[in-house]
Amino acid sequence: MNLFEKQSSEFIARHIGPDEHATKQMLKTIGEPDLATLVNKTVPPAIRMQHELNLPEAMSEHQYLQHIKEVSHQNKVYKNYIGQGYYDTITPSVILRNVFENPGWYTQYTPYQAEISQGRLESLLNFQTMVSDLTALPIANASLLDEATAAAEAMTMFFNTLNKQDHITHPKFFVDNDIFPQTKDVLYTRAKPIGIEIVTGDYKKANIDSTYCGAIVQYPNDKGSIEDYRGFIDQVHAAGAFVVMATDLLALTLLTPPGELGADCAIGSAQRFGVPLGYGGPHAAFFASKDDFKRSMPGRIIGVSVDANNNRALRMALQTREQHIKREKATSNICTAQALLANMAAMYAVFHGPDGLKNIAKRVAVLTQTVAGAVEELGFELISDNYFDTITIKTNDISPIKEKAERQQINLRYIDNKYISISIDETTLTEDLYDLINCFENDKNPVTFDIDHDDEPEHIPSKLSRTSSFLTHPVFNTHRSESQMMRYIKSLENKDLSLNTSMITLGSCTMKLNAASEMMPLSWNHWSKIHPFAPADQTEGYKQIVDDLSKYLCEITALDACSLQPNSGAQGEYAGLLTIRDYHEANGEHHRNVMLIPISAHGTNPASAVMAGMKVVVVKALENGYIDVNDLKAKATEHSLNLAGIMITYPSTYGVYEETVKEITDIIHQHGGQVYMDGANMNAQVGLTAPGLIGADVCHLNLHKTFAIPHGGGGPGMGPICVKKHLAKHLPGHTTFNIQHSTINTNAVSAAPYGSASILLISYGYIRMLGNVGVKNATEYAILNANYMRARLQKDFDILYLGTNGTCAHEFIVDLRPFKKSAEIEAEDVAKRLMDYGFHAPTMSFPVPGTIMIEPTESEDKAELDRFCDALLNIRQEIRDIEEGKMDKKNNALKNAPHTQQSVVSSEWNKPYTREQAAFPMYYVTQNKFWPSVARVNNTYGDRNLICTCEPIESYMEAEA
Ligand SMILES: Cc1ncc(COP(=O)(O)O)c(C=O)c1O
Repeated sequence: MNLFEKQSSEFIARHIGPDEHATKQMLKTIGEPDLATLVNKTVPPAIRMQHELNLPEAMSEHQYLQHIKEVSHQNKVYKNYIGQGYYDTITPSVILRNVFENPGWYTQYTPYQAEISQGRLESLLNFQTMVSDLTALPIANASLLDEATAAAEAMTMFFNTLNKQDHITHPKFFVDNDIFPQTKDVLYTRAKPIGIEIVTGDYKKANIDSTYCGAIVQYPNDKGSIEDYRGFIDQVHAAGAFVVMATDLLALTLLTPPGELGADCAIGSAQRFGVPLGYGGPHAAFFASKDDFKRSMPGRIIGVSVDANNNRALRMALQTREQHIKREKATSNICTAQALLANMAAMYAVFHGPDGLKNIAKRVAVLTQTVAGAVEELGFELISDNYFDTITIKTNDISPIKEKAERQQINLRYIDNKYISISIDETTLTEDLYDLINCFENDKNPVTFDIDHDDEPEHIPSKLSRTSSFLTHPVFNTHRSESQMMRYIKSLENKDLSLNTSMITLGSCTMKLNAASEMMPLSWNHWSKIHPFAPADQTEGYKQIVDDLSKYLCEITALDACSLQPNSGAQGEYAGLLTIRDYHEANGEHHRNVMLIPISAHGTNPASAVMAGMKVVVVKALENGYIDVNDLKAKATEHSLNLAGIMITYPSTYGVYEETVKEITDIIHQHGGQVYMDGANMNAQVGLTAPGLIGADVCHLNLHKTFAIPHGGGGPGMGPICVKKHLAKHLPGHTTFNIQHSTINTNAVSAAPYGSASILLISYGYIRMLGNVGVKNATEYAILNANYMRARLQKDFDILYLGTNGTCAHEFIVDLRPFKKSAEIEAEDVAKRLMDYGFHAPTMSFPVPGTIMIEPTESEDKAELDRFCDALLNIRQEIRDIEEGKMDKKNNALKNAPHTQQSVVSSEWNKPYTREQAAFPMYYVTQNKFWPSVARVNNTYGDRNLICTCEPIESYMEAEA
């Protein structure tokens, strides 16, 4: 490699941990002569890719940043008044710099290990409190994927509440005409497979009877009008059904909240609370409801509990609702949500406080009424006199107005060729109104308007004006100066272990490097300030990314077409299953609805299948973890006529490349089924094999695993799907792809056409900087790192399910069940003890209860892998001490883990081991100690005493007393 080739491939060494010397040492430990031999022994020859990937060569970080800047300038940043659920916003710089651009926040994992996640748990509790207060509904979750899917979640929740699986008595769901078109679109998609009948109409004329499970209205509605839904809500309740209101958090600072109007549920997007437009996302959706729904509410809920020392501690509540536990009985497949963006929105509310938010809302409302007054004076008619930030104007012909707006680089929303709507946001300045109103002027008269800066909003009807207070908790009333805010953010960050502290070995989650150069462009205006419904000639830069990334993903998966719409892995599963369903229907085989799913599958697989209207049949596993081919054959034969397909994960969730995979996919095809591949483990495939080579017809890719999008403490994510040619025409559509703007049966699964489009840049950057060679190297080193750890741990722990040659794929399972018998030690004790060593636990009890699954990824270097192995081996010795009776079975460092700073420095210390053993069990820990901020959290206490919002002030006073 010459000097200049070295420069362009420099990122490979930045992304991949082990260098040449370390690689040799690691191979020696494994007992293999070279990396190629290890890979050949691990990946079955029959499925190996025989060609090099046709991807561009690697770019250096410097070259890439120049390239992506150039591409960004193909996007045109116009002043947006499009609205329709997406509004420009000002991300406070203190939040931009300390949260959005801070790996301490964005590289966190979902807070399953509560003791080292108290910071984000507190912030997510703030999010829930903010949503609950603003909507006046008692329970809120810690975000959903987008407004449209949140609406669909509410619809299915109502449907499932009133209907029994085999006895549907309330199939109808009413959708008011004035709902955002993209929400309607997703409601249609989600309703059809499970037999919900959507009835659209004007809520004022609707006739809701006992055949309905619920209804949705928008507040303010699609055209900006503020409607009083009280009478309608009463009518729906009288029929025994429920109402969800799609709403806007900023508007709710001034409007009577949904809970006070009697709504059962409120949903919407928190985007305009400081989260950039980003051509559609990522943004956090919110979901709040009456107490009655707390056990059926989708998504993650953060709750208050206590720790082992009886101190307040937060954790995820009511976990038994989740698809991990409920599988095919789950009513939602939500897993990854939008935690990072929920944190940003919560921080925005913390920073502005109730008065600040109200002021922003009032400014927006006053500017809106100023524009409204001016256009009315020009002779135009508004469709409603009651509005907050959006007005819809009737014209004879939109063309001259549109032409003038475009000339001034202004985007308005053109509803059809007569109606225009305008949405004002917090970035709109008084000066901007000249250009805006000018769009409606003849070119002769100068623009005039009156605005008194002391004006109050005058177009919110008094009977719908908010009188109740909100955000009264101290957290929303303390952090006004930047110093305070910066320190608050930092104090929370310090409580959380993320990738900038140590490796996070979560099997199946692929917590690899999220490189700074991949992340940086996300903050640039030419990417962040683009509205998802901006005209195509303003989004050429995004088009290039969408087209090129789709092409790269097809090449990597050996499939033919791609949809970038799904916002998470589980959404990808759902979208993929819909393509299969549509395909069978198009062939006249409506009856094909049986989906085979191996017992080891992730909980989202069966949950998605049920949402896609399929019947789940479970396939057994053999003792070695392989799919039981005989059982599979029997079930495929039994259900041959109705077989829709199979969902497999490859390599399996047990961390092995099954040689039988092609036989399996052949069997399914012989019975007329389609093969869905869960791409969560793509990090073990890229460049070595591919879903298309294994026999898959469709697969999703968790871009937030293999393709470097950070996990953000539980989201964002992206779950594009790739399909073979015959499924291409069944991929998700979108209202904006459809010239007629028909909202029926586009199969859209997200509100925005390309989901959380802005984070596609991360995966694009990953592929461009690693290049065709680097992406394959990444897979090889993922296998090397896993096998190195396996080799180091194998003498002291039982490793489950290895491949035929005794190697693992990119992850492996360590069996901790024997220690229950020998020392009364459970997997959880080991997980919590790892925190004292400065590590996040691996994946717990998935796919096998009582085990941990370790996935190091290629990004970790040998020294870090060694530190983790040393910690686990030291813990093994601690277990041995218990086994040998040297340490008490109930009172030991594992059972008492994690140890907090407070407990270790306490004047009272009555443990049978030293404080040093408790907190500094190995030398390296003394050099860089991470302190869990609470002791072991009591989960059952929290679920029995459910509190999911910031506690009232009194509880703090009681605690102090
Ligand atoms: C094997 C597997 N499938 C599917 C998923 C769901 O992906 P997401 O969380 O992005 O919805 C996961 C998530 O961890 C997974 O590990």
